[in-house]
Amino acid sequence: MSLLAELTHRCPLSCPYCSNPLELERKAQELETQDWLRILEEAAAMGVLQVHFSGGEPMARPDLYTLIAHAHKLNLYTNLITSGVLITAQSMKQLDESGLDHVQLSFQDTDHAEADRLSDFPQVQPRKLEAAQLIRAAGIPLTLNFVLQKANISRIPAMFALARQLDAQRVEMAHTQYYGWALKNRAALLPSRAQLEEAAHYVAQEEAKGGLAIDYVTPDYYADRPKPCMGGWGQRFLNISPSGHVLPCHAAETIPALHFDSVRERSLSDIWYHSRAFTLFRGTAWMPEPCASCVRKEIDWGGCRCQALALLGDATQTDPVCTLSPHRHLIDDAIAEAEKTDTQHFMYRRMGAASLQKTRP
Ligand code: SF4
Ligand code: FES
Repeated sequence: MSLLAELTHRCPLSCPYCSNPLELERKAQELETQDWLRILEEAAAMGVLQVHFSGGEPMARPDLYTLIAHAHKLNLYTNLITSGVLITAQSMKQLDESGLDHVQLSFQDTDHAEADRLSDFPQVQPRKLEAAQLIRAAGIPLTLNFVLQKANISRIPAMFALARQLDAQRVEMAHTQYYGWALKNRAALLPSRAQLEEAAHYVAQEEAKGGLAIDYVTPDYYADRPKPCMGGWGQRFLNISPSGHVLPCHAAETIPALHFDSVRERSLSDIWYHSRAFTLFRGTAWMPEPCASCVRKEIDWGGCRCQALALLGDATQTDPVCTLSPHRHLIDDAIAEAEKTDTQHFMYRRMGAASLQKTRP
């Protein structure tokens, strides 16, 4: 159904909850324009419906307009996932002319100083606000995306107010997912149970007003059962990394036992239907107990393989978020640790793993 085209890992921001892998791919490794054009054609032929141009910051690729125009010509629905900081009046005109269908604009916060701190980018908020105005002036539907975490969750009402003020059609409130950079910063980011209840109250209040589509993604750490990650491994979604590796999800490369084929060597269709990486966890045959005999195994598909790997060192285990997992205590321990952590020292996302450590009060 969906293809996430991660055009580049380059990004002017450094968010400590970034979903990109810890080993970022460099510009020299990125696919060429011709590769992406061919991938879009193969995706359309396979029946893919939506292409999400993402990154890093996809606006860092000068061929973005060519790619969107090509996808549009192939009748693919095109969505741009962007921080907005590189959007100008000129680039907005080019995006519009290329046939872009939708923009998802990410915000760190409504508070300007906090947005600067989270993104580690000075004066980030005015640039995002200007981007939102340009998007709506072009008549392109807009979703605001807020990544919720301990320090911004109390400002949910202000987030909704900002979405209405900017004439967004939809707002996505997504709690941080703890893989990659976010796992490194988990104790600083994970909200408390009381904060979570407050958040649910704000969301219900806003839903009652109507006129704004709200997509609220609850944090799986506070659930009893895991989320059906990606709608099931290799069932609806594929992700292509900047260098051309085809992945069932954005964090899949963290699973060391898997080899991910490249679109430089195999066709997209061949990789989707036949590669070991896509078939290994597709369906239910791979499942251990307690999933194998569970009534929910075709509902949540055993949860998230990358979360099992990150927390248990074994991607074949039941997601430890599930209270039927013998390892659920790891999640409860993480919640307890986050509850007693009231300062935010972040490891910021950076190219070049050696200089990662940077903390702030
Ligand atoms: Fe889902 Fe497995 Fe837990 Fe059942 S045991 S609810 S299939 S994760
Ligand atoms: Fe990889 Fe959930 S993020 S399966």
